[in-house]
Amino acid sequence: MAEKNIHALIKNLFPESFVVDDIYSLLTTRKIAREIIYMKKTDSTNEAAKRLSMKSDGTLFIAQTQSQGKGRLGRSWKSPAGCGIWMSLLLKPEIDEAKISQITLIAGMAVCRAIGNGAKIKWPNDIVIGTRKACGILTEMFERDDHCRCVICGIGINVNNKSFPTELREKATSIYIETKHKTSREMLIAEIMNEFEKLYDRFCKNGFAPLIDQYRSLCVTLNKRVRVIYKNKELFGTAEDIAADGSLIVETDSGKITVNSGEVSVRGIYGYI
Ligand code: BTN
Repeated sequence: MAEKNIHALIKNLFPESFVVDDIYSLLTTRKIAREIIYMKKTDSTNEAAKRLSMKSDGTLFIAQTQSQGKGRLGRSWKSPAGCGIWMSLLLKPEIDEAKISQITLIAGMAVCRAIGNGAKIKWPNDIVIGTRKACGILTEMFERDDHCRCVICGIGINVNNKSFPTELREKATSIYIETKHKTSREMLIAEIMNEFEKLYDRFCKNGFAPLIDQYRSLCVTLNKRVRVIYKNKELFGTAEDIAADGSLIVETDSGKITVNSGEVSVRGIYGYI
């Protein structure tokens, strides 16, 4: 009881901070986020996880704010203190390199399930609520000198943001803007980790195939007209299906193509989705 009061007091005094004990108390995981490294400020939690890659499999890095938050395709990611979740999970999976990108899809599913409130996935792994983006995921892989393969799954979620700068307003949203309710970031982090571990365990045992139907049911890109931008080339088509390895199958005017998530951007033709 006394401990709860102290946590409430900390939250009142420093509303931008996280109470890491609250996250621990809500976790049901065996391995994921069993160690949490919390930083008031860092350049990027993905970079922090790389620097501390000797930490155990499943270590979670969380920052109140990032000075050089990174997005996909070399973009930057705004990470102000107080309203969002900026975190990276360090994983050391023993799976084929070709399957690593599927971890990103699983992370997207976990975030979607934890947020609820109609959150869906824009292929490959943007989480949208309504027609705008509330979360982005950046997965990076590297091999250490001791040949240990590390995967860093960075997740950025706009949680309690009340507004966005003009340049982001059309594309970005937050859980608060969509639901008009404040969300506990500690609770959401724990829920994402709990969901992630369930999916990740199944994935490591049986691969992505048994999870595809669940991914399809969350994916708003399917059956939409899309614009695929790859290496300065632009193609138009209809997103038809998700392949067994998680790539997107698009029927274009010049035939079917299979798009891998790596270096490609897929946009709706009438807007972001
Ligand atoms: C995207 O949609 O472009 C991916 C955005 C990923 C942002 C997160 S925030 C936590 C982690 N640290 C980073 O520097 N990036 C990811």
